[in-house]
Amino acid sequence: MTDTTDMPAATRPAAQATPAWWQTAVIYQIYPRSFQDSDGDGIGDLAGIESRLDELVALGVGAIWISPFFPSPMVDFGYDVSDYCGVDPMFGTLADFDRMLAAAHTRGLKVILDFVPCHSSHEHPWFVESRASRDNPKRDWYIWRDAKPDGSPPNNWIGEFGGPAWTWDDTTGQYYLNVFLSEQPALNWANPDLRAAMLDAMRFWLDRGVDGFRVDAIIFAAPDVDGGDHPPNPDWIPAMGLARSQLQTRSAHQPGVFDVVRDMRRVTDSYPDRVLIGETSGTLDDVIPYYGADMDLFHLPFYFAMLSTPWRADALADFIVRYEAALPEGAWPTLVLGNHDISRIASRAGVAQARVALTLLLTLRGTPVLYQGDELGMDNASIPPDRVQDPWERRVPGLGLGRDPVRTPMPWTDGDNGGFSTAEPWLPLHLPPEGSAARQETDPGSMLSFARRLIALRRDRPALSQGDYRQIDAGPDVMVYERRCGDDRLVVCLNLSDAPRAVPVGGRPLLWTHKDRGAAAIPSLGLDPHEAVILDPA
Ligand code: GLC
Repeated sequence: MTDTTDMPAATRPAAQATPAWWQTAVIYQIYPRSFQDSDGDGIGDLAGIESRLDELVALGVGAIWISPFFPSPMVDFGYDVSDYCGVDPMFGTLADFDRMLAAAHTRGLKVILDFVPCHSSHEHPWFVESRASRDNPKRDWYIWRDAKPDGSPPNNWIGEFGGPAWTWDDTTGQYYLNVFLSEQPALNWANPDLRAAMLDAMRFWLDRGVDGFRVDAIIFAAPDVDGGDHPPNPDWIPAMGLARSQLQTRSAHQPGVFDVVRDMRRVTDSYPDRVLIGETSGTLDDVIPYYGADMDLFHLPFYFAMLSTPWRADALADFIVRYEAALPEGAWPTLVLGNHDISRIASRAGVAQARVALTLLLTLRGTPVLYQGDELGMDNASIPPDRVQDPWERRVPGLGLGRDPVRTPMPWTDGDNGGFSTAEPWLPLHLPPEGSAARQETDPGSMLSFARRLIALRRDRPALSQGDYRQIDAGPDVMVYERRCGDDRLVVCLNLSDAPRAVPVGGRPLLWTHKDRGAAAIPSLGLDPHEAVILDPA
């Protein structure tokens, strides 16, 4: 281990002038169908979110990102939007939205919406017009192509959920592109009128006061549909789902995407202090360009590789080293261990590792995005076949691709339906191993109590929210790293194994996951299995 106390001052980064709120805040993702129901239909809503804002303040997060609540036939549970400037009655009204937004702002919480730019619902009036005739003024707002001479689709692309990426339209005798479901026709951002209409939709919400957007599936904004077939993926195995059997060399990350994002950023920047976050799935080489050469694209392009990194100290440390090394000057990292699309971290890493995982998420350099329920240690629910909702699971059952297991209602209390609703919830209630939020709230040793202490420490110490990151070599199965901002220093020690591990660092314990470490400085640390400890080395 290298001691840094003698590091020349010049190599220590000074405290940043004033970081942006989106650099220091913890962002909390709300999946609104499953957060809190206020009107007894078994589905969460905006008034429900408003009623739980105090819990989020107590947790200490600085911003919420709300998955779509716009009018939608809900074929993909809101990611199939039929009106970009409204609220689906299932979730409430625009007035409910305004009230919720004001209530969040009053409490100092920023509100980020989910913008779904690459496809609308097939029920969107734009698409109804577009498919009405070949010469409809909105025909070109979507991506239409003739069949090949043998009647087959224009290319071999497969939709993200496993079906064909082209749907035949009998009325007008052409195929339209759908990167996801047939019910999600791809929007054509190359059409200037469509582009203007979508940018206006962003302005609609910015004018109401939202603090930014998480932009859905942006990598598909400029597909090169005339560029030919996708080649096969040599590394494909069926468990990856059919879409991954091809390399998406023409549909994803095409040059036109960056133009689209630049326009979105211009709109965002015409309002003070807003943030633009991109769902930029891909490799590090794919993701980095989404910052823009002049940092003029996404403030925060997601890099999801931590989600698929094996839960081992060496693999995770390597992930961080590669990520940090690839970030250009001025680029700020994003940190994700869970969302509404992916197996829960407590299931991937193991329930015993949930606190270690949370500590990692909240102590690395970058903006952490915490998925609802992960603060309670939620693991994947098992969904009986007759309760399956996710179209992906329905289309390709049994591969484990379905997302229902991570979308079950928040278990707020031990009461009926977990305090989520007075009615039977749309997905079955699933309790995390440590029980409901109410139960965890009264237990100082619970996951929730730990999450609150950890976020409070992060808010309190610039080393965690802004500092640089330096890995300390401390042997197998442990991750030890220093965070430092000016004179503020912390050392984070994580044991990823189920055996005790000694680490050669000392200091005053500030936070621990299991046994009380007391306040007195210790010369070196013996970590218990699955334990995380944060030390103040000063
Ligand atoms: C994104 C969303 C996912 C949705 C898809 C289609 O990947 O996160 O939930 O199904 O886009 O919009």
